[in-house]
Amino acid sequence: MLGSESGKKAAAIAALEFVEDDTVIGVGTGSTVNLFIEALAAQRRRLRGAVSSSNATSKRLAAAGIEVLDLNSTGTLEVYVDGADETDAHRRLVKGGGGALTREKIVAAASRKFVCIVDESKLVDVLGKFPLPVEVIPMARSYVARQLVALGGQPVWREQFVTDNGNHVLDVHGLRIIDPPALEAQIESIVGVVAAGLFARRSADAVLIGTAAGVKRL
Ligand code: A5P
Repeated sequence: MLGSESGKKAAAIAALEFVEDDTVIGVGTGSTVNLFIEALAAQRRRLRGAVSSSNATSKRLAAAGIEVLDLNSTGTLEVYVDGADETDAHRRLVKGGGGALTREKIVAAASRKFVCIVDESKLVDVLGKFPLPVEVIPMARSYVARQLVALGGQPVWREQFVTDNGNHVLDVHGLRIIDPPALEAQIESIVGVVAAGLFARRSADAVLIGTAAGVKRL
């Protein structure tokens, strides 16, 4: 298995091919995306700008000389590039380890193509080994946690963490996600849930996996 850092870097560099000249792109959050931003910096003149999925990514984009634009002023984006905590063979993802899941979901929804970049440790048969992040309105935290227990999960409050939207995160352990779109819909219908870190109804269009044998595409 290729080291996770080199795998992430290989996938990040491969994603540059999806960036068309003179477009605005969406940029996700996390260590793999940070490598993508580094690679993109050298080609920044090709871009009109980027819509960011978190305050952390906005800072990195600005430091790389890439203009950060408001999604409300850009219209549909050509491509969104982001990492994941898990992917299955159908390009359905668990995301939100960094807590940016809601904005990531918004930017993914507003993009024509979603390109996910991962190292090979992220590919799983069944989603759910990585605790599923769920962003909640703070006053609803305990109520939502009880509903998640009823769905078979063990939610753990990510204490000392507040999202960029001012909300809390519950990390749901113990789920074996056999039907990702159904669970995503079920969780997102609980009052007080802002978003679940399951990207199944809008899955990735391509997953680029950095492996010892090169970059594989799902
Ligand atoms: C951020 O909230 C997440 O969705 C990230 O995309 C995910 O955690 C992947 O991060 P790494 O690239 O650091 O593994």
